[in-house]
Amino acid sequence: MTLGMSDSNFRKPVRKAVFPVAGLGTRFLPATKAIPKELLPVVDRPLIQYAVDEAREAGIEEFVFVTGRGKTAIVEHFDTAYELEATMNGRGKSLDPLEPTRIEPGNLVTVRQQVPMGLGHAVWCARAVVGNEPFAIFLPDELMYGSPGCMAQMMEAYNEVGGNLVSVLEVPKEEVSSYGVIAPGESKGALTEVKGLVEKPKVEEAPSNKIVSGRYILQPEIMGLLASQGKGAGGEIQLTDSMAKLIGEQPFHAVTFNGRRFDCGSKVGFVEATLAIALDREDMGAEVREMAKKMLG
Ligand code: UTP
Repeated sequence: MTLGMSDSNFRKPVRKAVFPVAGLGTRFLPATKAIPKELLPVVDRPLIQYAVDEAREAGIEEFVFVTGRGKTAIVEHFDTAYELEATMNGRGKSLDPLEPTRIEPGNLVTVRQQVPMGLGHAVWCARAVVGNEPFAIFLPDELMYGSPGCMAQMMEAYNEVGGNLVSVLEVPKEEVSSYGVIAPGESKGALTEVKGLVEKPKVEEAPSNKIVSGRYILQPEIMGLLASQGKGAGGEIQLTDSMAKLIGEQPFHAVTFNGRRFDCGSKVGFVEATLAIALDREDMGAEVREMAKKMLG
């Protein structure tokens, strides 16, 4: 099946993923004064771990973190913790809980965004590492929960249509002003052609209620567009504005994620994710359910 434009030039394999983690996380202060937002745990895994696990499941091999000051603990999380491991070994404790934190030597690269000038600017900071290949982007504060994961579902779509893809979900129309919104074209199953994109539109000007939700597969030409991208909504360099310029030039589709999305950049979304995942866990779900029932009377 092909919706809209499809071109064999835009089908190179996606091996690299960019994780922009240089934001200030002001909505979570004071928690995020010394600890990066991306290390806040949902049950027992930091947010960044959920995103890296999802990337790995989708076949990503190289992990590019766009960091800033105060964010080095994110990199430490994916390093060997020699003292901890030696002590645990000595005490006969299993190292299994550390398994997800292992990334193949050399496959974690960090680049620096000195000033958080917006998501578009953060992605552009990864240009030298991305090079001339399509790449994925994960915003770790959007926790995508489901199996197969969101990026695995997007990869399946990419294998069909190539080009550029964003994950989308529907929200009540009055909420669209906080997000990037697509102007949808033809739809087939989970795949929708993208005819236009706008960042944080006024409710009355929004082209739909389908919002972009933190996962992207983009062709490398986006980097050239970002290089000359001026400031957009909120005075930030917006990824959405450069993506909009690819429409009509290259295939561009949206994938509706079959799963649940938690906006962990907001406090209520974070609590929702914690409760939903705790309830779903085999090792603790029943206990948490009992506790929640008692609490709610
Ligand atoms: P957000 O706007 O949700 O994150 O950006 P924030 O700015 O850290 O949070 P608040 O609004 O102050 O609470 C989405 C993602 O993009 C990254 C953030 O780290 C987050 O993962 N980001 C954003 C950057 O890396 N650089 C930027 O300049 C802006």
